[in-house]
Amino acid sequence: MHTHNPAKKRYNRTAKQLILLFLFTCLGLSLFGTRLFLRATNDHILRNTRQQAFDQLVQKEKKNQPLTSLKSIHTGSKKMNPYGFFYSEEESDAVVAQLEKQTQAAAQQLETISSAVISYISEEAIAETLIHRNFVTKEYHWAPEQAAFVLAQEAYELFELRSYETREPLTFKEAAKDETSLRSITRCLQEALLEAHDSPETILEEVLTLPDLTFEEEVVVLPHALKLRTDPLVFGFETIDLAYTDLFPAINPLLLDPEFIEEQEKKKNDATKKVALTFDDGPNTQSTMRLLHILEQEQVEATFFVLGQMVTAHPAAAAAIVEQGHEIANHSYSHPDLTRLSNEAIRNEVKKTDEAIFRTTGVLPQTFRAPYGAVTQDVIKQVGLPMIHWEVDSLDWQLRDPQAISSKVLAEVRPGSIILMHDIHESSIDAVPAILSGLREKGYEFVTITTLLSEEQQPYHQYFSATSIQKIE
Ligand code: NI
Repeated sequence: MHTHNPAKKRYNRTAKQLILLFLFTCLGLSLFGTRLFLRATNDHILRNTRQQAFDQLVQKEKKNQPLTSLKSIHTGSKKMNPYGFFYSEEESDAVVAQLEKQTQAAAQQLETISSAVISYISEEAIAETLIHRNFVTKEYHWAPEQAAFVLAQEAYELFELRSYETREPLTFKEAAKDETSLRSITRCLQEALLEAHDSPETILEEVLTLPDLTFEEEVVVLPHALKLRTDPLVFGFETIDLAYTDLFPAINPLLLDPEFIEEQEKKKNDATKKVALTFDDGPNTQSTMRLLHILEQEQVEATFFVLGQMVTAHPAAAAAIVEQGHEIANHSYSHPDLTRLSNEAIRNEVKKTDEAIFRTTGVLPQTFRAPYGAVTQDVIKQVGLPMIHWEVDSLDWQLRDPQAISSKVLAEVRPGSIILMHDIHESSIDAVPAILSGLREKGYEFVTITTLLSEEQQPYHQYFSATSIQKIE
């Protein structure tokens, strides 16, 4: 009998399919498992290879260092790239902690997982005077073909300066250029305190009566700045940093970036014919404002040696001088002959004018001109600012004739001249357009006093032109 049961047949076929499916699944899973296993083994081998290569690298880097008794720490994990750092046993805990922090940070920044970081402290002697201590961070990338780490980039960060002779941190005296520097650095400190304070007017008196710094002062010589202690009860902060570039030229030149020195040399050797127009005894609301208008139209920068009492009487004119980009400088408060005053009275003339100028313009003057040009060594010491005289006297106060004034100036000017005029006489202002066009025809450029002196003006020095300079004894 031939029976035909299509249901049973279908059943058998379904069972076979299920068994096949099961077998394939098993096969697939085992293949996948093997691959995983193989990959894990490969990873393990590679990790060991890399770890060995890394250890060798650290040993090699250590050998290149002149430092003795080096300690090293290596770390890293499956997820992290290996990193390591080494240092001399003499290093302070703080330095080691900072080195570790920097190394970790560099390792965390690596993008690929096949990189490594090695850090250490290197020392570099500068002119057999000071030692630069750097954190060196080297990043290596794994090169599979060579089975080795290859240097990808290295960074040097200057973190400490030491004396070459003593190996001690640099002292304030070693960081300063000379004794004269103390006065300049004090002036920079005054400026920095006013700049850092929220309401500088409230500390102006204390700032302007700050005694000059001494080399006994507790000063930390940082890589790029001096850290000075200040009275927190008076100024609101305990320390303040003065950048070396702001302290130039009162700072040991070795502390300055060679690029900065190069730029400075370029400025000094610039062959452009420069002159500085200076205007004394103002400001006022008539002739000074008329002069400012002419200078603005001609796009000329000048320097105004103002009287404190005139600034107090005409604050808007003083503010306009600074707003238009001119230099404002100190010419005493009431125009006395300083050689006839007591030391205290001299200092008071300077201080009261600084105060008036700062309150109206927010600027602390950088230079001083004595009334009548009358100085003694003692006056120059008491004033404590670079003393600016002149080379070309327009005699405008006497001539009172625009034609005569401009002719005299044009006949006497040389490159680097400082020209003396007064912005309180209308005839002086009338002479200005002819002076400007006449000097321009001869190829002159007009600059401020500090630009003319390449910002190298110093206290206890007298300046008659860019090149005629006298230091007091
Ligand atoms: Ni004067």
